[in-house]
Parts: sequence; C-alpha cells; structure tokens
Amino acid sequence: MSVGQALPHDSALLHVTGRAQYTDDIPLPPGTLHAAFGVSPVAHGMLQALDLAPVLASPGVVAVATSADIPGENNYGGAVHDDPVFAERELCYTGQPVFAVAARTHEQARRAVRAARMQIDEQPAILDIRTALAQEAFVLPTQRAQRGEPHAAIAGAPRRLSGSLTIGGQDHFYLEGQVAAAVPQDDGGLHVYSSTQHPSECQAIVAHVLGVPANHIVVSCRRMGGGFGGKESQPALIAAAAAVLARRTGRPVKLRLDRDADMIITGKRHDFIADYETGFDETGRILGLAVMLASRCGYSADLSGPINDRAMFHIDNAYFIEHLAIVSHRCRTHTVSNTAFRGFGGPQGMMVIEAIIDEIARALGKDPLEVRQRNYYGGSGRDVTHYGQRITDNPIGTITSRLVASSDYHARRAAVARGNAAGGTIRRGIALTPVKFGISFTSTQYNQAGALLQIYTDGSVLLNHGGTEMGQGLHVKVTQVVAAELGLPLSAIRITATDTSKVPNTSATAASAGTDLNGMAAKAAAATLRERLVGFAADFYSVAPEQITIADGLVTIDTKQMPFSQLAREAYTARIPLSATGYYRTPDIHWDKHSWSGRPFYYFAWGAAVSEVALDTLTGESRLLRLDILHDVGSSLNPAIDIGQVEGGFLQGMGWLTSEKLWWDAQGRLRTHAPSTYKIPTARDWPAEAHVALLAAAPNPEATIHRSKAVGEPPLMLAISVFQALRDAVASCGTPGARVELEAPATPEALLDALRRIRSAT
Ligand code: MTE
Ligand code: MOS
Repeated sequence: MSVGQALPHDSALLHVTGRAQYTDDIPLPPGTLHAAFGVSPVAHGMLQALDLAPVLASPGVVAVATSADIPGENNYGGAVHDDPVFAERELCYTGQPVFAVAARTHEQARRAVRAARMQIDEQPAILDIRTALAQEAFVLPTQRAQRGEPHAAIAGAPRRLSGSLTIGGQDHFYLEGQVAAAVPQDDGGLHVYSSTQHPSECQAIVAHVLGVPANHIVVSCRRMGGGFGGKESQPALIAAAAAVLARRTGRPVKLRLDRDADMIITGKRHDFIADYETGFDETGRILGLAVMLASRCGYSADLSGPINDRAMFHIDNAYFIEHLAIVSHRCRTHTVSNTAFRGFGGPQGMMVIEAIIDEIARALGKDPLEVRQRNYYGGSGRDVTHYGQRITDNPIGTITSRLVASSDYHARRAAVARGNAAGGTIRRGIALTPVKFGISFTSTQYNQAGALLQIYTDGSVLLNHGGTEMGQGLHVKVTQVVAAELGLPLSAIRITATDTSKVPNTSATAASAGTDLNGMAAKAAAATLRERLVGFAADFYSVAPEQITIADGLVTIDTKQMPFSQLAREAYTARIPLSATGYYRTPDIHWDKHSWSGRPFYYFAWGAAVSEVALDTLTGESRLLRLDILHDVGSSLNPAIDIGQVEGGFLQGMGWLTSEKLWWDAQGRLRTHAPSTYKIPTARDWPAEAHVALLAAAPNPEATIHRSKAVGEPPLMLAISVFQALRDAVASCGTPGARVELEAPATPEALLDALRRIRSAT
C-alpha cells in the first residue's frame, strides 16, 4: 500500500542532479526570440509620449509591443479587470511594464529596453498604508465583520489595552523566477509553457489578450522551481506579453525575468498595519476585541479581496473571541500589486492576535502560554468562530499539552528567566504559539478538480490532473493515491505535465488544497477504471467480482493469477475503454459574504511550535536555538513530504518575520531587489536542535483523501513563535509589565529599536 509511506519526491533525483527541466530549460525551436519588459521609471505619472524608435534600432531587436499592439483586451486581472498587461496612459508603480521587446538574445532584449524615451508628467504618489488610509485610497471596498457587542464589552472590561502592530511584506524568492515561452502553432493556436500555479487562468487570459477563443491556447507546466502563491495570478502577465510578441512575429518568444526584474515587477505578500483595542479580565480572558486591519494592496485589486478576507477569518487564530469587530481596509498605493503568498493573509491576521495575547500576558504578569490556553476554543459555547462556523474537530489542547511536555517548556522557560535575570548582553526568549488554519478556497466555486487517467495495453498508466507541482510533492501524493486505488506499484504510474488540453477549467493549485482536490479527482478516475476492469474480468472469467483482487500489480481471479498487463491487454481486446476522467467537489461548504457567515472551510489544520531564541542586545542579531513542532496533517499520505513542508514552511515564515525586509525609497523604488539587499533564510538559520513531529493517530474526521489534511501553508504560521520568543527576549530588558514595541520583520534594526524603547520606558 503506497498511501501513508514516507516516499521521496518523484523528481528528487532530477532536482539534486540538476536534470529536472524547468520552463527555461525546455528546448525551443530555432529562431526563438527572447523578450524583456520596458518599465515605468516613476511611481505615478502620465505617459505623454513614448518613443521606441531607438529600441527598435538596437542590436538584435526584432519587434516591440505596447498596449496598442494588443489584439484583444489589455488586461491580465483575473477577478477585477484593472491590471493592464502594458500601461496605457497612467503609470502606477515604478517597474510597471509599459512595453516589451523581442530580440535575438536575452541580453540584447534587456539592453534594448533601456533605449526607450518616455515623456512623463509625474504625479504625487501614495507609497504607504497610513497615507492611503488618510486619503481613503482603496482598491476594493472596506469590509466589516462583527459578532456580539465588542465596544460595550471592552468598555465594561476590568482591564483594557490598545496598540498597533506593523507587519512587513515578503518577496516570494522562488528559486526559479517568472518565465513563459509562447510557441505559435500552424493553425493559429499557441502553446504556452508557463511556470504557473494556475494554467487554466493563464490560458483564459492569454486567449482574451489575443482576442481568440480559449480552445486556441494550450498552457502546460511540468514543474515550478517554487511558486509560494507568487505564481497564482502573475504568470498570466508574463505569458500574455510573450504571447503578444509571438503573435506579432510569428516566432516562438520566451520571456524570463531576471531576479531584479522579478522582484521589482511582481507583487509580494501584503504588508499590514493593525490598530487594536481589547478588554480582558484578570485571568487574561479576552472579553472584547476591536481591530482595524489595513493592507498595502498596491495599484490594483489582484487577489487582495480574498487575501484580506482570509486575514479577517484568521484574526481569531485558535481563540474564541465572543465580542469581536473587524474593519478591513484594502489600500491602494503606487507600488506593485501585492498578491498571494503562503497563508494568503491568514498569517498577518494571526500575527495580530498573537501580539495582543502577548501584551495581555505581560500586562498581567502571566506566562503568555497560560493566556493562550485560557482563550483557546473549546468547552461549551466556545466553539463557534466569529463567522459562524462550528469547530467540531479541535486537537489544540492535546497538541499543546503534548508539546509542552516534549519540549520541556516550563523548565526551559524558568531557565530562560533565570538566565535573563542574571543580566548580560545575550538575552533569551521562549514562546509557544498555536496555529489553526482554515482549509478550502473561500470562493466556494474553486473547490473542484478534475483528472484524466489512461491505461495502455502494456498495463502502464499515465496520470494527469489539474494540480501543478511546485516542489510541494503534490504529484507523488496523487500518484500514491492512484497506485493504491488500482493496486499497482508506484513505478507503474507516470505523471505528466499539467496541461489545459487534458484537464480543463482547473483551479489554481493554492489554498493548500492541491492534494485534497486533485487526489480525490484522481481517485475517482482510478476507481472508475478499476471497476471497469474488474467487471470485465468477472464476465470474461465467469467469476463474481468479489473474487477478483488487484494488488502489487498482480491480478488474482479466484485461484488464477496474472500480471496487470495481461488484464489490460484482454480488456482492450474486448473493446473496454481504458481511459477515464475523475471529478471532485468539496462537500458541505458554503459562504455568504453579505452576512459574513457560513462554513467557508471544510476543516481546519492545527499545529503548535515552541521556539527558543538568543538575542544579542548590543548588535540586535538573533538566532533560533531550539525548535519543537507538533503539527496536524490528519493521516499523512506521505510523512516524508509532510515533514518537508512543515520544516520548509516554518523556515520561510521565520524569514518573513526576522530577516526579509522590503524597502522602498521616497520615490517609490524598491531598493531591496536582489539577494545582496534582501536576506532570505538559509539552511544555516535552521536551529542546532529541532524536533519536528506530526500529530499521531489523528485521522481527519471529514472524509478527505485517505483522511489526510492539507499541509502546504499552515506550518508557515508556526514561525510566529520565533517572533514571540524575540518579544520575550526584548521584554527581559524592561521592567516587568513594560510594553514591547517590536515591528515585523524583527531585523537587528527593529530589535535595537524595540530595546531602546523598552529601556527608555523603564
Ligand atoms: N512547497 C514548495 N516546495 N514550493 C512551493 O512553491 N507553495 C506553498 C505550499 N508549499 C510551495 C510549497 C503554497 S503557497 C501552497 S498554497 C501549497 O504548497 C500549494 O500546494 P498544495 O495545495 O499541493 O499543498
Ligand atoms: Mo498558496 S498562497 O495559496 O499559492
């Protein structure tokens, strides 16, 4: 049985030997051209004149394209049509594509774009959230959600506090940047190779940009070198620009952004600010909470609607908050349009409540863990979220108590306190934080998937489904599911590139739901074929279907045994169809955005982490010393892959909260656009001591694929424990109860700032 086994990633060998083909590695026909974007040099302005003659005259240049050369609609916005492929008159951020050039080589294209002459009437730019708030500049209407009477509850509470939190954004820094190649076909069709999490949307957008029906466009993707949400909506821009140039020249065109261009041109995680006010009692129980969330969306809507909604959905994290009001502003700024990033707004919402809990605990002189546990969901009347979803499966108490024991939390916390009390420049901090993350797309329609399964007459099997592989191990998991369903060894099944001509109308591989959805669709296809084969064999050999089993590639028919290939051959000869589609839609979910209530999530994924850090109070440098994680993936389909996702997600979250600082200058230019100035975590940041475990014997009570749970995004938020541990270390430098004012990311500068504040307050 392949399900549940710790099997390696199907491409592991190709990855580590460098043989895995990414989009840029696909050999293209001779005559392929290479494209580059010419971009806006200003954050906000009106383009008065654009002279591309010098670009066309540059060495190697074959063609240029501007908005005027788009045959169809000049838009790549999926939900809201406010994202031009090429800016027309208004320039909305520094780095916004204005035109593209196709040249014989990549270098020639990059050089040529610099020769453009743009006459621009510069306009005042809004560059940050506070300015956008003051001017009420929003990309989408403000959303509000409320339960109970929060303002009365806060006013009547024995204790109150208010404050604000700044949470930075994050660049995806996928190792493979954005890339697409558009190859014209002889009949007016176009094959687009794209590094995309969302081939179907890419197909639809290329079609409407070119003004052709969707059946003219095929988008395929064998794998991405990371997506992390950054390749959900944005690859459509790259693909559309390549497609327009391919249409103009009749030649294949590849557009690959180099790292700087990728960081400047494409959107990132939304940075947020939160202003909050809470009332609580002496035990630390939250009685009422009012939160204002505001995020920097950039110049267009992109996925900002559902991302900010998810921040609102996750403001509770694992805590029951009876009286709660949330106001969520989606701010328009003259910066790049921010987009999906692992957690999709959830992490930002959770950061806010975790900071509030920590503040309450410090104000009361309690262990923050005690206040966390005091507020956990659970117990009668304390199991319904602020959006009306009942939490029926809640392992957070179990997870916390097991983790407290295995990490020796209490003794270590006492030791940290003793060490800090002794003084010294190196301070320590420790924190346990929980994660509860809702699984499903909050737009109900996306919770569907399809698969196509084919058996050849030699018994080999080809699998295709709508999900994309970005390193997360989706393909090996879906292959395991099909192998189990058909009774075949894993090696009998081959999975090929995701391809819009094989499985149509797919959803983005996102919201961590890839395996949940595509695993189920593939299982359905496999079940259809198995039943067909067994039905055929029962007739052919005149036995009851129950007398037939297929296991390990061997078919047992009563007392007779034969290889699967023989059954496939016999079925073919008897004219039994050996291909089938499978389809799945998530049951039981519904959501009414007007009343802000329903069951948007099929279930929740849970986890908790304990982080212990050391902070050098002279330099602001910090380090994670020890990490303990217990994470719930239901019945794991593949523990090796799942542990990889937990560790990778955690480290990526730690980067977001500690070292990855995005910085735009006063002109709105992103100055951190390369690894020289933007620091992602590396293997060296992994702590010397780490204990990462999956919650044992915890099948998903919902009927998910083999009772597993999604794992892609939730572990990122375990890294909030690092931020909280750093707060703990900073707190040791103030008087008891003094306020910690630390912004995220907790870079050395931010930590020194927080230390200065807490010391001067004392
Ligand atoms: N893991 C790797 N190695 N690379 C990635 O790009 N993306 C994450 C997560 N894990 C990502 C990853 C994000 S943002 C999501 S939504 C999920 O994987 C998507 O895949 P899944 O739905 O199959 O889990
Ligand atoms: Mo993940 S942010 O849902 O692609």
